[in-house]
Amino acid sequence: MLLVGLVVAAALVATASVSMAEPIMIKFSHVVAENTPKGQMANKFKQLVDERLAGKVVVEVFPNSQLFGDNKVLEAMALGDVQLAAPSLSKFEKYTPELQIFDLPFLFNNMAAVEKFQQGPVGQEMLTSMKSKGYIGLGYLHNGMKEISANSPLRVPADAAGKKFRIMTSDVLAAQYEAVGAMPLKKPFSEVFTLLQTKAIDGQENTWSNIYSKKFYEVQPYITETDHGVLDYLVVTSADFWLGLPADIRTELKKALDEAIAFGNDVSAKKAISDRQAIIDSKRSEVITLTPAERKLWVEAMKPVWKQFENKIGKERIAAAVASNN
Ligand code: SIN
Repeated sequence: MLLVGLVVAAALVATASVSMAEPIMIKFSHVVAENTPKGQMANKFKQLVDERLAGKVVVEVFPNSQLFGDNKVLEAMALGDVQLAAPSLSKFEKYTPELQIFDLPFLFNNMAAVEKFQQGPVGQEMLTSMKSKGYIGLGYLHNGMKEISANSPLRVPADAAGKKFRIMTSDVLAAQYEAVGAMPLKKPFSEVFTLLQTKAIDGQENTWSNIYSKKFYEVQPYITETDHGVLDYLVVTSADFWLGLPADIRTELKKALDEAIAFGNDVSAKKAISDRQAIIDSKRSEVITLTPAERKLWVEAMKPVWKQFENKIGKERIAAAVASNN
């Protein structure tokens, strides 16, 4: 009888300690608004984890650079202050040269080509290009093709000469603006609206969803529909954190993340159309459509940037990206 009592008591203690185990905390930090592809993806991930791993994992999402800006988030991740982020692919320059491929101007014809390249062998291999630095890419997330906004109409490259453009922290993007005689300035996303509003800069490049959700169109009277580059994200985590998770939890989290990314990609495709239309309807900014001859001038001016970076990025990688257009 005494033995049975002891066994029951031990079982109760074990159950209590399991149920009292602290949940794994995941802070997901990003810089955009919640009504964007990335914002929606992050919220979807939280919702799926809440449903499937209740009591075991808690996800907290911090949008709008509330926790960290993109220039600080990877350092914070190395310190264990944040577990998930999805910076734009342009913001990994300090950590790997390979991802700079996504900044080469006029490399991808459309988002279908971007998707094909990312899901192909070269794109998948690049997910682990920062493992030795302690980061693992868990997947790519789309935002979309970039357009150039400005305070004067840009039809041909000469219209951009001498003007200041905010860019993300990427030497490829800097070279792209230098190629048309413009002045690139690397600035955090959180500062762009004020820089545009105060006319400290003349323009910037971004996707329809970022131009709309951050109201850049209210302070930029012209947007040239260049589709000259892509703005996509790498969902990234710390290798220590990810590989230290119990295997079953890691599998469930990856599954939830893949589903959230698919959801976010769907949002991105829809927003590229609806946010563009909302900007046109607002009449705050004129959307300039280039003629084929005008577009050709931008391609001719910017494409030499490929040569400048081909050794750093890798000729085979660039060839694989070009092939994804077919
Ligand atoms: C983002 O979409 O995460 C920010 C892009 C930018 O810095 O322009």
